[in-house]
Amino acid sequence: PRPILLTRHGESQDNVRGRIGGDPALSEAGERYAKKLGEFVNRRLKSERTASIWTSTLQRTILTARQIAGFPKVQWRALDEINAGVCEGMTYEEIKINMPEEYKARKLDKLRYRYPRGESYLDVIQRLEPVIIELERQRAPVVVISHQAVLRALYAYFADKPLQEIPHLEVPLHTIIEIQMGVTGVQEKRYKLMD
Ligand code: F6P
Repeated sequence: PRPILLTRHGESQDNVRGRIGGDPALSEAGERYAKKLGEFVNRRLKSERTASIWTSTLQRTILTARQIAGFPKVQWRALDEINAGVCEGMTYEEIKINMPEEYKARKLDKLRYRYPRGESYLDVIQRLEPVIIELERQRAPVVVISHQAVLRALYAYFADKPLQEIPHLEVPLHTIIEIQMGVTGVQEKRYKLMD
């Protein structure tokens, strides 16, 4: 059976500052993760004749893929992080203080809450449909390097998690989630490459 490897990008400069969205580069730790991920994937896919590496169009995922060698890389806009609209670039604390109503509304219904001029989780789930169709169609391994909200939705699809849980699923940085689709169902392994 072919594996699908899911991972978030390495830590970004905005992760360090607690800012959401944007198009930041990697922090030093994020660069270290890119190196470790490269080593892991190059070893893991060594015996594969074909495989592909999918990223979003944001530089933190493209930079995280940089050390993976020998397979084609595809950028998908549909793998970009949830668009936080007017809240892009803010910290959760700033949203809480400056836009308390928005903060509360999101807390009450994180799945359906749509950022002003941005997206909701439901929007993200919907735009992932073509990605899922293409993933299902692949016969070779795929490494997907994307973002927290997007990977929660993708993971939920393969792990068969209910819609309501999606915004709260645990998808930590610097961890690879390997999904194997076999005849007996879906198997999952997690590799934490660093803290
Ligand atoms: O903080 C990293 C990040 O990827 C943000 O860019 C994004 O808005 C957020 O995570 C999504 O997670 P949550 O839905 O829990 O805010």
